[in-house]
Amino acid sequence: MCGIVGYIGLREAAPIIVEGLKRLEYRGYDSFGVATISGGIELDKHQGRISDSSGSAIRLTGKIGIGHTRWATHGVPNDINAHPHMDCSGRIAVVHNGIIENYAELKRQLISRGHIFRSETDTEVVAHLVEEAYASEKDLLSAVQKVVPMLTGSYALLVIATGEDRIIAARYASPLVLGVGDGEFFAASDMTPVIDHTERAIFLEDGDVASISHEKIDLFHEGKTVQRPLELIDWSGEDTKKGGFPHYMLKEIYEQPQAFYNSVRSVTGEILPASVKNAESVTIIACGSSYNAGLIFKYLLENTCAIPVRLDFASEFKYFPPPVRGLVIGISQSGETADTISALKQAKVHNCTSLAITNVLGSSISRIADFTLFMRAGPEISVAATKSFIAQLAVLMQITSFLRNGEFEDVLRKGHQAIEEVLLMDLSEAVRLCLNARSIFYVGRGPFYPVSLEGSLKMKEISYIHAEGYAAGELKHGPFALLSPETPVVAICMPGETYGVMMSNIKEMKARGAPVIALGEEGDLELSEVVDIFIPLPVTHPFVQVLTSLIILQLLAYYTAVGLNRDVDKPRNLAKSVTVE
Ligand code: AGP
Repeated sequence: MCGIVGYIGLREAAPIIVEGLKRLEYRGYDSFGVATISGGIELDKHQGRISDSSGSAIRLTGKIGIGHTRWATHGVPNDINAHPHMDCSGRIAVVHNGIIENYAELKRQLISRGHIFRSETDTEVVAHLVEEAYASEKDLLSAVQKVVPMLTGSYALLVIATGEDRIIAARYASPLVLGVGDGEFFAASDMTPVIDHTERAIFLEDGDVASISHEKIDLFHEGKTVQRPLELIDWSGEDTKKGGFPHYMLKEIYEQPQAFYNSVRSVTGEILPASVKNAESVTIIACGSSYNAGLIFKYLLENTCAIPVRLDFASEFKYFPPPVRGLVIGISQSGETADTISALKQAKVHNCTSLAITNVLGSSISRIADFTLFMRAGPEISVAATKSFIAQLAVLMQITSFLRNGEFEDVLRKGHQAIEEVLLMDLSEAVRLCLNARSIFYVGRGPFYPVSLEGSLKMKEISYIHAEGYAAGELKHGPFALLSPETPVVAICMPGETYGVMMSNIKEMKARGAPVIALGEEGDLELSEVVDIFIPLPVTHPFVQVLTSLIILQLLAYYTAVGLNRDVDKPRNLAKSVTVE
C-alpha cells in the first residue's frame, strides 16, 4: 500500500506535499517522490523515507504538484522505481496507489510502439498510456478518461502535465479523497495529510475521475458529470500528531479509554440494522488483529446468545468460500484491506447481508457493504492496531449487548474506566523477561485464547521476537517440546470454570523450565505464588477483563520493542493497511 498527495492552489505545492507525505508514511515508506509544474515538470524522488530525506523535494517550485510515499509491490525500492513516473517526453507525471494487474501486457505493447521504460514498476505504464492518449485527445482529462478503462486491478491515480493547470485524479478500489480548501484543493489517500488544511472532503467512488483546477472540482463517472457529497471530517489536525508521546503507538494506547467510550456510544438501537438484530448466524471475515477481534466476538456472542459464529481469514474466504448464508461481517480498521474487500464482495455474490465495521469514513469497505458501523477510534497512525482494536471490541460487545436486550449496557458504558486503570501498570519486570526471549508463548482459554493471539501478534510485529498465541490446552500437544528458560509464557488465568485447568497448565509449563508471566485477577494469591511474574487486573465483568488484559499485552509488546530499539510505529516489512492481496 502507498500514500499519494496532490495540491493545487495559491501556495507553493512542494512543502505542502512533503508534509502530507510524512503524514502518510505509515502507508509505506521505502521510497518517495514529488513532481510539480513550473513551466515544465520538476521532479525529485529517492529511495528511503521522506522523513529522513535531505529535504530537496521541498525546493521544487510551482503551485501544482503530486507526491508519493511507497510500499513496493513491483520493483525494488530505489530512486528509479520511486514515484512519480514520467512518460517518454517528460511532460506527464503520475503517482499511483494500487496494482495494475495487466501491466505486463500493456508494457509489452507500449514497448513495441517505441516507448522507453525506465522503471520496473506497474505504474509507469499509466504515464505512457496517458502520453499516447494525450497526443490524440490534446486534453489531460480526456486522455485519463480514455486510459483508465484499459487498466485492470486497483488504482488511485494523480496525473499532471506540462501546460495543464490542473490535476486529474482517478479512483478504482484504492482510496482517494479530495480536500476542499479556500482557494486551494487537495487530493490524498486519506484525510491525514489534508485535515490540517480543511475538514471539507469529497470521497471519490470507484470509477470516478476528477478534474481539479484552481477554481473548481469537476467529477465524472463513466464519462458523465456526477456529484459527490461534500462531507465534514471531525478529526483535528492534532489527532494525527504525536501530542508529546514518543511514538504514535503509545499515544494511541493511551487514547483507548476515549476510543472505547466513543465507540460504545456510536452503536445505538436506531442504527443497528435489522439483519443484525435478527441474526440467526454470523460469518466474520477479517485479517490480522481484526480477525482476532472477530474471534473474541465469537466467544462472547456464542456464550451469551447461542448464535453460531463462523470466522474466516479473508485471504482464504475468497478462494475457498464456505457455504455461507445470513449475516456476514467484514471487520477492517482501514476499510481498505484488499483481502477483506475481495472476500466481502464474494460473500455478497452469495446473497448474504453484509455489515462492515470500520474506522475510516468513506473507506472502500463502507461503500461495498449493505450496512456500516463506524468505530469512533479517530485516526490510527501506528502500524500496530491498538485503539482501533479496542474500538472494534466496543462495537462488537455493544452488538452482543443489544442481542441480549441491553444486558451489558452499564458494563460497557463504564468499561473505559478499567482501561484507564491499567494504563499506568508497571510492567518493567515482565519486559525484562521478554527482552532476551528466543520465543514467547501466549496462552489462554475461551475469549482469552484470541486475546493471546492478539498479544502475540503485537509482540512479534513490533519487537520482531517470535511469539505465538495458543489455546492453553493445546500447548502440551507438541509445543511443550519448545519450552525452556529462554521461552517465557504469558498466561491469562482469570476466575471461572477454566481456572483450575489453567492452573494445571501453568504448573506443567513451569515444570518444563519456562518462566511464566500470568495475568490474573488482583488478589489471586494462589496464582501469584505459582508464577514468576504476576500482573494483577482489576476485578471487573468478564467483558472488561478481556479489555484490560489486552491493554497489558499491548504495553508489554510496546515497551519490549522500545527496549530493543525497534521502529515501533513503522516496523520493518509492514504497512498500516495491506491494499494488495
Ligand atoms: C495489526 O496490528 C496489524 N496492523 C494488521 O494485522 C492489521 O490488523 C491487518 O492488516 C488488518 O487491517 P485492517 O483492520 O485495516 O483490515
